[in-house]
Amino acid sequence: MIYLTRKEHFNAAHKLWRPDWSAEKNEEVFGKCANANWHGHNFDLYVTVKGTPDPDTGFVIDLKFLSKLIKEKVVEELDHKNLNMDVPFMLGKMASTENLAMEIWKILAPEINVFPNCKLYKIKLYETERNFVEYLGE
Ligand code: NI
Repeated sequence: MIYLTRKEHFNAAHKLWRPDWSAEKNEEVFGKCANANWHGHNFDLYVTVKGTPDPDTGFVIDLKFLSKLIKEKVVEELDHKNLNMDVPFMLGKMASTENLAMEIWKILAPEINVFPNCKLYKIKLYETERNFVEYLGE
């Protein structure tokens, strides 16, 4: 079994805010991410697949395919967007990095898992240099 990772990047705005909470509680829980007039993050996305190399190519997956897939299905949907308002798959959810990583998994897994020798293994999403989440599908 070998693991292969493609890195992509996007910028997006968000706000973490619960209308059913007071302003004080929102600020206490969400800190700067509760800023009323939005703010942005530079996200780094690492998509890792696992599998066995194809005997003909030596590849687990064609990186051109993987790169195009992530760009078309994920980066185009998120880059320079407002996660709370512009992104259909995030509507009605808290725009946290955790929820975003889980949604990215849901988009990519069915596209990658069709290959008999290759499965999606991990979504790793950096919101800042120091804060990142990892999702392995469960
Ligand atoms: Ni934030």
